[in-house]
Amino acid sequence: EKGGFEHFMLKEIFEQPRSIADSMRGRVRADDGHLQLGGLRDYLDQLASSKRIVIVGCGTSWHAGLVAEYIFEELARIPVEVEYASEFRYRNPIIAERDVVIAISQSGETADTLAAIELAKSKGATIFGVCNVVGSSIARATHAGAYTHAGPEIGVASTKAFTAQVTVLTLMAIAAAQKKGTISETLFRQLLAELERIPALVDKVLQNAEKVKEIAYIFTYAKNFIYLGRGLNFPVALEGALKLKEISYIHAEGYPAAEMKHGPIALIDEDMPVVVIATKDSSYEKVVSNIQEVKARKGRVIAVVTEGDTQIREMVDFVIEIPKVHDILMPLVSVIPLQLLSYYIAVMRGRNVDQPRNLAKSVTVE
Ligand code: M6R
Repeated sequence: EKGGFEHFMLKEIFEQPRSIADSMRGRVRADDGHLQLGGLRDYLDQLASSKRIVIVGCGTSWHAGLVAEYIFEELARIPVEVEYASEFRYRNPIIAERDVVIAISQSGETADTLAAIELAKSKGATIFGVCNVVGSSIARATHAGAYTHAGPEIGVASTKAFTAQVTVLTLMAIAAAQKKGTISETLFRQLLAELERIPALVDKVLQNAEKVKEIAYIFTYAKNFIYLGRGLNFPVALEGALKLKEISYIHAEGYPAAEMKHGPIALIDEDMPVVVIATKDSSYEKVVSNIQEVKARKGRVIAVVTEGDTQIREMVDFVIEIPKVHDILMPLVSVIPLQLLSYYIAVMRGRNVDQPRNLAKSVTVE
């Protein structure tokens, strides 16, 4: 049942080329510019013309929401707020009738997310769901939505569900942008073509797993970790830190790289490993200077870089290369080494990777 893998989590990490492809299947065809999400058809107008989108979720699903915030705002020019479902539901939130709520949930059973939907619905919002489990409570409570086709996720630490969520949310954002006329035909075509390449690119990163394992070995006994990223890689930093906490029980924090000097930089010394996602994108130069700040304080840096990058290689302790991809699609590729890193560290520490202590796969109590 684990398909030859030692743990479900590893199997699920390696399934991502397929689960991402499955989440696009029948929805995207780059050669003739086809993009259609069946479950959205009657509601796409409403999504595209909404004045505001509120995204709710918990944990990893909330991180996928943060990625989606950047993409919806960039492409569809709709203001987005991303809320922890548990905070949103107890805050007497302001919801107007033309607001759209997107609820993200792998299990479709998370109690806080479900309650947030019911609340928003009672105030007249239109609810879209991005769920993995067909027929789940959240899927049933929404007006419209698009399933992620990640297949069953058994490992408590969410991996393939995250990349499937980001895939589907990206498709939703592109579809809304096209409807609204805020995306050029060239960019539309380019993104569809690049999306179709993502499974192969993810596969390429997975072929580098041994390299990540070697790095994991070196840092097995670290007590703390900091993860840094900017732009779309900021939520990826949060997700990398959450993965490490959950399964290895190492304290880890994710930060937007520029926030470091507002506090966390005080933590940096030779015992502090810092994972920096430093891909060649619009914030590359800024991230390079953030790395310099860490190195000047003797932090040990593991950098996730775009293949062929030599500048960062010379500055840091370890690099993990990933292929180049359009900025907007970067999280689908940059999160993969972080999943692997947390997995190998947890295994080397002898943790129960698939069922970490104190955690349940779906959190059906608030
Ligand atoms: O099933 P959901 O996506 O609603 O679950 C939300 C969180 O409980 C979940 O993502 C949790 O944070 C995972 N264990 C993360 O790996």
